[in-house]
Amino acid sequence: MSTPIIQIQHLKKSFGTNKVLDDFHLELYEGESLVVMGKSGSGKSVMIKCLVGLVQPDIGTIEIMGKNMMTLEQEELDEIRTEVGFLFQGSALYDSMSVRENLEFPLRRHTKKFGKIKDATPMVLEALKSVGLENAIDLMPNELSGGMKRRIALARTLILKPKIILYDEPTTGLDPITSKEIIQLMKSIQKTYKTSSIVITHDIDCARVVADRMILLIDGKNYIEGTFNSIAQSEDPKVKAFFK
Ligand SMILES: Nc1ncnc2c1ncn2[C@@H]1O[C@H](COP(=O)(O)OP(=O)(O)O)[C@@H](O)[C@H]1O
Ligand SMILES: [Mg+2]
Repeated sequence: MSTPIIQIQHLKKSFGTNKVLDDFHLELYEGESLVVMGKSGSGKSVMIKCLVGLVQPDIGTIEIMGKNMMTLEQEELDEIRTEVGFLFQGSALYDSMSVRENLEFPLRRHTKKFGKIKDATPMVLEALKSVGLENAIDLMPNELSGGMKRRIALARTLILKPKIILYDEPTTGLDPITSKEIIQLMKSIQKTYKTSSIVITHDIDCARVVADRMILLIDGKNYIEGTFNSIAQSEDPKVKAFFK
């Protein structure tokens, strides 16, 4: 097998006496869609925040594209970060900015990858097109439905042309039909842009459709790993509890 594009080893993180991650590890291979499932409060968001540097791990190593994230200089760190798109739990659009401005914002922060952009409109439109919302370019966030907001947030991630996309609960809070649309969109993005992704979810339908491989996070550890089907067929009571 090729070397992983992301490798997390021996990751531990506690908050006071709350041991959240306890020797968690993860390998994401190029082009793969890896789902991390775990119940609410199991440390999924903490894990992904460690990965992007928003939370400082107690111990562990994190490598992205072969670089050790703990020891990188700021400049190299910024460079890697442009390759990692992060779709936060919730959509986190800037309410006071139009869709266009929301999408232009990350472009202006990553001048190194894109140079100085005179007119961002073509890039904004291309990103909106890939989520089917070109017509929303001049709308404000409060004019968008929940599903549209999620799509725009995804477009804002895509505009940076990341090699890796991290999704934190991409379908949470959406109705079943909109969830399905977002799930299909995630599939088509992986196919079109050949991105590698980590998808955090407790949505079984989402996991079934997007997972090339899955990790179940229980008690801070990789409790079981495998394909969706192999895990869904497990007789282990803790695993079965997820598929009821
Ligand atoms: N900044 C923080 N300070 C203290 N405790 C935190 C912090 N962030 C997360 N936690 C705790 O870590 C645990 C895992 O949280 P989280 O990763 O958000 O769970 P989830 O799997 O639902 O995403 C929870 O018990 C949460 O209260
Ligand atoms: Mg979470």
